[in-house]
Amino acid sequence: EKGGYEHFMLKEIFEQPRSILDSMRGRLELGGSHLNMAGFRAYEQKFVNAQRIIIVACGTSWHAGLVAEYLIEDLARIPVEVEYASEFRYRNPVISERDIVIAISQSGETADTLAALELAKSKGATIFGICNVVGSSIARATDAGAYTHAGPEIGVASTKAFTAQVTVLTLLAMCIGQRRGTITDVKLRELVTELHNIPTKVEKALKLDAEIQQIAETFKDVPNFLYLGRGYNFPVALEGALKLKEISYIHAEGYPAAEMKHGPIALIDENMPVVVIATKDSSYEKVVSNIQEVKARKGRIIAVVTEGDTTIPAMAEFVIEVPPTSEVLVPLVSVIPLQLLSYHIAVLRGCNVDQPRNLAKSVTVE
Ligand code: F6R
Repeated sequence: EKGGYEHFMLKEIFEQPRSILDSMRGRLELGGSHLNMAGFRAYEQKFVNAQRIIIVACGTSWHAGLVAEYLIEDLARIPVEVEYASEFRYRNPVISERDIVIAISQSGETADTLAALELAKSKGATIFGICNVVGSSIARATDAGAYTHAGPEIGVASTKAFTAQVTVLTLLAMCIGQRRGTITDVKLRELVTELHNIPTKVEKALKLDAEIQQIAETFKDVPNFLYLGRGYNFPVALEGALKLKEISYIHAEGYPAAEMKHGPIALIDENMPVVVIATKDSSYEKVVSNIQEVKARKGRIIAVVTEGDTTIPAMAEFVIEVPPTSEVLVPLVSVIPLQLLSYHIAVLRGCNVDQPRNLAKSVTVE
């Protein structure tokens, strides 16, 4: 049932070219600009007129929500807030009937996320669900939604569910943007074409496996890791750090790269590995400066870069090259090597990657 893979997590990481395709299937046509999301269509007017979108989720799903904040604000120009479901539900939040709440959950059973959406519903907000498990409690409690269709995820560490969530949220942002007229037809077609190329690019990123295993060998015994990214890669940094902590038990923190100078830079010395996601996008030059700051303090740099980058390889101890893609789609590609890195480090440390200690696949207690 693991399809020849040693662990479910590895199988699920390698399934991503396929699962991402499954998340898009039937929802867009190659070359065109016609998007087809049934759940969106039913609430189109609500989305068009929404004064705000609030995203509630936990863990990795919350990270997908952060990517969606960038996507929706970029493409659809609606203000987005991303909330930990557990905080949102207990703080007497301001919610109105013109708000749309998007609940993101792989399992569809996370107690805090369910309670957060019930609260928002009681205040009149429209609830849109993004779930993987069909017929789950959260899916049933929403007004409308879109399934991620990633297939069953068995490994406790979420991998293919994350990329499926980001894919569906991208389509949703494109749908809203198209209806609101905040995205041009040219841009839309460009994104449709590039989305179609994503599975192949993910496939290519997966070929880095052996290379990443070597990097894992080098760092398997360190006590700490830092992950840095900006823009669309900031949530990816958080996700990379979470993956590492939960399955390898190495302490890791993700940070927006520019925040480093406000504290975490004090941690950097010759023993600190720093994973920097530094793909060629609008924040590239700034990330290069952040890498210089780390290097000046002798931090050990592992950089995820765009193929063909010649600047960063001269500065980093290890370089992981991923294929170029549109800036807004970058998380779908840049997260892949981070999933593999955490996997290999955990395996080398003898950890139970599919069932890490203290964790459960669905957190049905608050
Ligand atoms: C991380 C992980 C957890 C879940 C979180 C939310 O790898 O598995 O952080 O992402 O418990 O779960 P769902 O998405 O089922 O609501």
